[in-house]
Amino acid sequence: MREAIYKLPQEFLHKLKKIYPHDCSRIATTFLTKRSTTFRINYAKTDLNSLRKALQNQRVKFKELSFPQGAFILKGSLRDLQKTEVYQQGQIFVQGLSSMLPVLALSPENGENILDLCAAPGAKTTQIFSLAPESKILAIEKIRTRYYKLLANLKVQGADSVKVMLIDSIWVRKKFPEQFDKILADVPCSCEGRFLVSDPKTFKFWKQKKVKEMAHKQKKLLHSAFFALKEGGIMVYSTCTFSPEENEEIIDWFLNKFKDKAELMPLDIPSSFSRPALARWKEKKFSSDLRLTRRIIPNDLMGGFFIAKIRKISV
Ligand SMILES: C[S@@+](CC[C@H](N)C(=O)[O-])C[C@H]1O[C@@H](n2cnc3c(N)ncnc32)[C@H](O)[C@@H]1O
Repeated sequence: MREAIYKLPQEFLHKLKKIYPHDCSRIATTFLTKRSTTFRINYAKTDLNSLRKALQNQRVKFKELSFPQGAFILKGSLRDLQKTEVYQQGQIFVQGLSSMLPVLALSPENGENILDLCAAPGAKTTQIFSLAPESKILAIEKIRTRYYKLLANLKVQGADSVKVMLIDSIWVRKKFPEQFDKILADVPCSCEGRFLVSDPKTFKFWKQKKVKEMAHKQKKLLHSAFFALKEGGIMVYSTCTFSPEENEEIIDWFLNKFKDKAELMPLDIPSSFSRPALARWKEKKFSSDLRLTRRIIPNDLMGGFFIAKIRKISV
């Protein structure tokens, strides 16, 4: 491993080696370089042909990707992109590629009642809106400054119909029992997938104790959200972290808690950059159903993520 890597917390590197014993070194090198900026189309404002033409006319250098569809790699500077009309008019949204996957897994459709449980700054809320502008979306955020950022992003993206609430999502169980066809639970996490050696604020607060605290919050949020889901409804759980305590352990706990009431569903994510969940962590062996969840393995384009798709069988 290159020396600079050792600026990351030792305990974290040690843990990463246990999570990915065979390719820890390669994965760790992804913490050394900032990934290229990527963005996606806002279908609510434009279509792919018009966007391609507009990008060319506005001299934006880009590479279009086949997956996720409607995603692009920026080949120029973000500052220049921000000066263009396509950006300022909300025809695009700057978003990491792996961050686009949970909404694709949710597969929002017009007419559905959709809850975005932890919404700010709104990358995924606006993506839901882009894919299903005629759906009824409720976006919740509990931190005031982040809530305002969410409002600003929704405005630029033309997502005025999205209802926004500044509350703790823990209350959705009581406030919205069995009301949603789909729920996105992109929960707060220890954000290990966003560590960057050159940017110490991405990792300087990391501690195993924080991972445990996050896991506690995640359980409470997922538990509450499940009651807000209709029978037959779909919930996608996602984190941008590697720690099994915030990923496999949460879903394993959830499946035990809601035996016969919930099941995992397969995810259509290419195996070139994803793997099924870990089968065990330390002394704990997880339910074999967890093979249906996916870990996004970081590379030069994708940040680390974890995604699980849950269906509510009965109330
Ligand atoms: C991982 S970020 C969400 C990112 C967002 N989904 C996006 O794609 O732009 C988690 C968000 O949840 C918010 N949050 C944390 N705890 C919360 C709670 N109990 N209720 C509502 N929001 C919460 C955080 O402030 C943060 O903005």
